Amino acid sequence: MNNPLADFIQDLPKAELHLHIEGTLEPELMFAIAKRNGIPLDFASADELKKAYRFNNLQEFLDIYYLGAKVLLHEVDFYDLTMAYLNTCAVQNVVHTEIFFDPQTHTERGIAFDTVIRGIRRALEDGERQLGITSRLILCFLRHLPEEAAFQTLEEALPYKEWITGVGLDSSELGNPPSRFARVFRKAGEEGFLLMAHAGEEGPASYIREALDLLQVIRIDHGNRCLDDEDLVQELVLRQIPLTLCPLSNLELKVIRQLADHPVKEMLEKGLLATLHSDDPAYFGGYINENYLRTAEAVGLTRHDLGQLAIHSFQASFLPDPEKEIWIDRVNTYCAAC
Ligand code: ADE
Ligand code: ZN
Repeated sequence: MNNPLADFIQDLPKAELHLHIEGTLEPELMFAIAKRNGIPLDFASADELKKAYRFNNLQEFLDIYYLGAKVLLHEVDFYDLTMAYLNTCAVQNVVHTEIFFDPQTHTERGIAFDTVIRGIRRALEDGERQLGITSRLILCFLRHLPEEAAFQTLEEALPYKEWITGVGLDSSELGNPPSRFARVFRKAGEEGFLLMAHAGEEGPASYIREALDLLQVIRIDHGNRCLDDEDLVQELVLRQIPLTLCPLSNLELKVIRQLADHPVKEMLEKGLLATLHSDDPAYFGGYINENYLRTAEAVGLTRHDLGQLAIHSFQASFLPDPEKEIWIDRVNTYCAAC
């Protein structure tokens, strides 16, 4: 069906800044990889599995997400996973992507750090060469695990520093405040990694405050709950700290009751550097374009708003300034012609 807004979003150049590579594992690919690795799954088919994708909160999702990742054993599995995602980026006009990976999800199962990162990295190199998509890789510590495990993961990452731009913090937020990871983030910063953290998805505004003050992050992943604290909002606006929002994720994990309740429009009006992304698209029913479109329709984002969100995505990226400028010019030219 003809949808002019969908066409506009399709051709808008975009950067994806909040994307867990393990969350792009589509049921069909999960089944294919499970089969070739001889791993039994609890579901008879990809369709059966999809029926289980109903979540009441973040933890219910994470339980299934960590189960799904167990099919990934070999370098080629991580390559295929990443390449499949990059092909979708090419289709959706995502020209630059900054990808989270969760090494502890794999090293805890006995998979070598080297296996994980080498498969992802080889796909990112092929993605740039074959599809023209630039990328960065961000290592996330799992916050439900002890600080000591994060330190060990950081140690394992050091030989691969050239391939890893930054570190983040993800997994079960409630009860695992950023303060638990202040020391490991300090060490990561000293090693030259850029710092960011999931905060204010399910957790309170005080977790965002902790991420800023104790972890010294330069980007907040989600950050929805900042709106509960007016002083915090003012600081985020003043410092232009990016908030990488994921509306379909918020809907599926019951962070919001309906998409019309998503705060992105209010955030733009307040001058926050909000951006839109897909988080775990294989689980939440859509990649970046579906996030743009469904949110636009639900909260009434204009083409100007959508262009602004795309510009923000490049501003908030870790691209060098001249490359940011090129893409921002292209978005402006594109929007002026529409
Ligand atoms: N890991 C994968 N997706 C996540 C999310 N939305 N929040 C926290 N951890 C995650
Ligand atoms: Zn996330």
